[in-house]
Amino acid sequence: MQTLLNYEIKDISLAEQGKKNIEWAQKDMPVLNSIRERFKKERPFEGLRLTASVHVTKETAALCIALKEGGANTILAASNPLSTQDDVAAALVKYYGIPVFAIAGENSETYHKHIDCALNHKPHLIIDDGCDLVATIHSKKRELLDNIIGSCEETTTGIIRLQAMEKEGKLQFPALGVNNSLTKHLFDNRYGTGQSALDGIIRATNILLAGKIVVVCGYGWCSRGAAAKARGMGANVIVTEVDPLKALEAVMDGYRVMPIAEASLIGDIFLSITGDINVVSTENMLTMKSGAFVANAGHFDVEVDVNGLKKHVVEYKNIRPNLDEWVLDNGKSIYVLAQGRLVNLVCAEGHPASVMDMSFANQALGMEFIVKNKGKLENKLYTLPHSVDVEIASLKLKSMGVKIDTLTPEQEKYLNTWSEGT
Ligand code: ADE
Repeated sequence: MQTLLNYEIKDISLAEQGKKNIEWAQKDMPVLNSIRERFKKERPFEGLRLTASVHVTKETAALCIALKEGGANTILAASNPLSTQDDVAAALVKYYGIPVFAIAGENSETYHKHIDCALNHKPHLIIDDGCDLVATIHSKKRELLDNIIGSCEETTTGIIRLQAMEKEGKLQFPALGVNNSLTKHLFDNRYGTGQSALDGIIRATNILLAGKIVVVCGYGWCSRGAAAKARGMGANVIVTEVDPLKALEAVMDGYRVMPIAEASLIGDIFLSITGDINVVSTENMLTMKSGAFVANAGHFDVEVDVNGLKKHVVEYKNIRPNLDEWVLDNGKSIYVLAQGRLVNLVCAEGHPASVMDMSFANQALGMEFIVKNKGKLENKLYTLPHSVDVEIASLKLKSMGVKIDTLTPEQEKYLNTWSEGT
């Protein structure tokens, strides 16, 4: 571990590999690159300090570089203790002049110390992934409130926390829910989480999915992506839900749907992606087949009740990185992936750059929206205008070489009339 005055990372000598990885990600982020080129010329964040708490990955690095080139004095802390790519952290410090406070595997105390360090930057702008910066400012660092113009939030979980703050009248600056943009959740959540969660399970275990019973908890955008990918690899997928509409959709998409208590008895692999707490309870895990795998791809490590299960563990056996066998007092073993933390970022590298391109284009344009509308926004949760989604989707299609049709004047007129019917 290397500690200097203005950053804390694992090892600066990893920087060269980190730079290669960042450049590799940037190749697949054409939309963000085009925004970065514009930011370089227009410098929309000149003179502003920005603190971000996002998974420290090569894709996040591409976002931070774009913001810095737009004039933002940018600092980065992790948004999860286990997801940091240490080589990327080193490269940001050494080659891009972006201080980072993050070390893969840091304990909870260090994680919170790093959040504090990044907030010592006295930011005008916040980028959050899970709402830890905003919650810390509102609870423990209220002296920072005066400076803050606004924040952008990446995840469903963070938006749920912001909504609760807004409802209680506690939110003290405007916040933008990036996850609410279509070019975020329809792609990042569905295709990104769908692929990276399975990537994490496979990298940690190398088990064959074909023929296995995979229980996916939840049928939101993330979980439906994972269910589809698991089915695509030959798994027999069961979905558990609490929302009748989503459950019905899962049934009609061809999945078996049942309560978690029933699924627990038959599943081989359990993947929870709901954003809620104790979705896979200790009781459920005690009834699972010996040798079942449990993994979480929700933002916080609360979905699978690993803490409750610890009370029944008679022996922990580390099999390989991020895969532990927990021998239980009922004679069975359960395999826990990534200690119940985000399997896609801990066991794999998170979502691929191509999909983070759109998520982080939304973050970059979201920050610009907050700055451009300084003084005009209320202390509420906002969503970026639909025109931004259209712009991002158009740029993405163009980068993929995909052309689409445009409405003819006749079609446009038809869509605006009500008198032409049967
Ligand atoms: N969340 C999921 N995948 C990610 C990635 N590659 N970078 C940052 N945040 C992420």
